[in-house]
Amino acid sequence: MRYLVTGGAGFIGSNIVDELVRRGQDVVVLDDLSSGKEENLAALRSQVDLRIGTIADLAAVQSACSGIDYVIHLAARTSVPRSVANPLETNRVNIDGTLNVLVAARDAKVRRLVFAASSSAYGETAELPKTESMSASPISPYGVTKLAGELYAQVFGRAYGLENVSLRYFNVFGPRQDPSSQYSGVLSRFMLAVIRGESPVIFGDGEQSRDFTYIANVVDVTLRACETPGASGMVMNGGTGARVTLNQVIKLLEKITGKKITAEYDPPRIGDIKDSQADISLARKVLGYQPTVNFEEGLKLTWDWYASTYHKT
Ligand code: UD1
Repeated sequence: MRYLVTGGAGFIGSNIVDELVRRGQDVVVLDDLSSGKEENLAALRSQVDLRIGTIADLAAVQSACSGIDYVIHLAARTSVPRSVANPLETNRVNIDGTLNVLVAARDAKVRRLVFAASSSAYGETAELPKTESMSASPISPYGVTKLAGELYAQVFGRAYGLENVSLRYFNVFGPRQDPSSQYSGVLSRFMLAVIRGESPVIFGDGEQSRDFTYIANVVDVTLRACETPGASGMVMNGGTGARVTLNQVIKLLEKITGKKITAEYDPPRIGDIKDSQADISLARKVLGYQPTVNFEEGLKLTWDWYASTYHKT
């Protein structure tokens, strides 16, 4: 089978591409390298057709979709605070860009499109864990764009027969997550700070919680979403079903690294939700998904990677 992975040079994308290549699939990557890096695909350069281009360019997406069986659509402007700072840019890439990908996938008559949706679509919910039957009520522009993508994907299913599955990822972490920006995922920021001997910064009191999901679980659930018959039109959580607070993360990192870590506490971020925890029973039932790497194991694997990649020189 031939897969198009938009955003395939990024953290999540390149890990998915690794697994597709390992399974002997043909892979085309469309990435504008705005946050992705060619070096993430370095080991696979001869096996992957990397097209450098943006999903905001319909012609580039149409060309990349030619002859494709499955589209895994990950390309996006990530980050809640980035979307608060620049909602127009997040909207342009995440909503207009997703519409381009849907149009191109429809016209290329692909078998299915899997969309990287987000737990941020829920916003604050009165109850935990968050189940797909709860009403979505995002509290950031980023969450709005991710919810819009799901709705568009479903409408393309109804209106044009484009098979689609949306996976609401929950705080993905692991090797290759880029720690270098203020918008980077919190665990990558914490690890870089520890390596540099600096204090990790916690926004708020550190009692906010997340269902941090190790990348191997996300690769697994995403490929299941491509392959499982009868799943089209569904929106499913792709988390682990557990949650930890940032204060607990610091304690676990102390245990894993053997270092004393003192966090610095700054004011909370606008658009931040308090708690996040997935109910994964739908993905378990429909896709046969079961996380294989728990949070602490994933944190250890991730620390090993950061320690060897970003060691002090
Ligand atoms: C993350 C993802 C987003 C995804 C969503 C749901 C990233 C960058 N964002 O958003 O794409 O859709 O999960 O799966 O991966 N924080 C600190 N210190 C820091 C950085 C962050 O305390 O240095 C705090 C934040 O204020 C927040 C929590 O850590 O409370 C998590 O932040 P972040 O990693 O940016 O993820 P989300 O905003 O939850």
